[in-house]
Amino acid sequence: MQAHGGAEAPDARAPARAGRQLPGPATRTTGLILGPVETAPRCARGILAAALAQWGLPGLREPGEEIISELVTNAIAASHRAAPPGTGPLPVTVWITAGNGELCIRVWDPDPAPPPADPSLPGDLAESGRGLFIVAALASRWSWHPAPSGGKYVWAALPLHPGPHAT
Ligand SMILES: Nc1ncnc2c1ncn2[C@@H]1O[C@H](COP(=O)(O)OP(=O)(O)OP(=O)(O)O)[C@@H](O)[C@H]1O
Ligand SMILES: [Mg+2]
Repeated sequence: MQAHGGAEAPDARAPARAGRQLPGPATRTTGLILGPVETAPRCARGILAAALAQWGLPGLREPGEEIISELVTNAIAASHRAAPPGTGPLPVTVWITAGNGELCIRVWDPDPAPPPADPSLPGDLAESGRGLFIVAALASRWSWHPAPSGGKYVWAALPLHPGPHAT
């Protein structure tokens, strides 16, 4: 007898998808292009939170959102600084990847100038200069590299499965 409801029986001849149980793309990567505007860091936080929820990594949301906010804010400032006279700032690009034991947040901006290598905490009265210090404190590692077609990437990583905290 034929089954009703349109559901097709699994094809016994179809090759099994060995070792892969989860739906969705095998590579946990998402990217976005953000206009150099005030709302961009919020947008980046939202995309990161959605990606982490989809990937089953909700524990990385808090440090991840802090890091992506600081990197995107800096990239937008750099894009404004790098805009040649008479032109507008370019959008910035964000890549978020989970793999090889790390969540990696990578942000491109068009300014070839690198960020400071060893950011230190500014004095109590300073109103700025804390962003990269926070990134360096939260991330397991961070750095930057020139982009092949100009500008640079600044990136920061968090372990996917942090070890137990020492007490
Ligand atoms: N993507 C970048 N490209 C070029 N220079 C950068 C970049 N990110 C940071 N910098 C430089 O490093 C400095 C320190 O960055 P940091 O984020 O720590 O502080 P800030 O952006 O000045 O202030 P805030 O505390 O609001 O983040 C910046 O002022 C800028 O000169
Ligand atoms: Mg900053």
